[in-house]
Amino acid sequence: MGSSSEKPQLIIDGKRIDGRAFDELRPIEMEVGVLKNADGSAIVAFGNTRVLAAVYGPREVMPKHVALADRAVIRCRYRMLSFSAEERKSPAPSRREIELSKVIREALEPAIMSELFPRTTIDIFIEVLNADGGTRTTGITAAALALADAGVPMRDLVAGVAVGKVDGKLVLDINKVEDMYGEADMPVAAMPSLGRITLLQLNGVLTHEEFVEALALALKGIRKIYELQKEALRKKYVTTEEA
Ligand code: CDP
Repeated sequence: MGSSSEKPQLIIDGKRIDGRAFDELRPIEMEVGVLKNADGSAIVAFGNTRVLAAVYGPREVMPKHVALADRAVIRCRYRMLSFSAEERKSPAPSRREIELSKVIREALEPAIMSELFPRTTIDIFIEVLNADGGTRTTGITAAALALADAGVPMRDLVAGVAVGKVDGKLVLDINKVEDMYGEADMPVAAMPSLGRITLLQLNGVLTHEEFVEALALALKGIRKIYELQKEALRKKYVTTEEA
């Protein structure tokens, strides 16, 4: 991102710029099945970051030559809508969006039982409606819900969150200001039940000890997010009598 403005103080009286404790997630909202025409969909908000995910498939591959004989092709497009950021974003796909589409796909792929659907495609669309940090991890969290909502067989859900180092402290679920002015940010996604990490990126520098602590903090957040994901799915699929 980059900004010429002066760095604000990110920790004040032991609290973060938005009043959170170091290990506190932003207020989270999740809703499954929000689009009628998609096979599966979900909307997820972490604070002011709000992302919509839609899944289509398994369906016939177009164009046909990209089909795979032994599994479904998984395609993913991450996009930030023009009005999602403070500065209008060009609708043309940026390098960043192309890269994020790939890393998000790779974060979701291990969870999808694509071998059950040879010669088909599963298309995942992630639309960032409002961006305030952590859009890739929110996108992964929403897409996993949309896949489950589409009835795609999965080994586990995938949940994600970014940890950052701000004013020398490790903090969970960074917002845009913390991302911009912090010393490091580390997005992580995992399959919580299987304990498998599917995305780990690090921008900035952490010591070995900080890295270990940051990863533990991210996984603690991911377990909480996973509980909320299950709750959101139950809300759509389990009737009150069954619950
Ligand atoms: O969103 P995420 O943290 O996964 O990715 P990032 O590239 O580290 O971007 C951090 C934040 O910068 C985003 O969440 C947006 O709030 C903001 N951003 C923006 O406003 N305009 C862009 N073209 C890219 C990012």
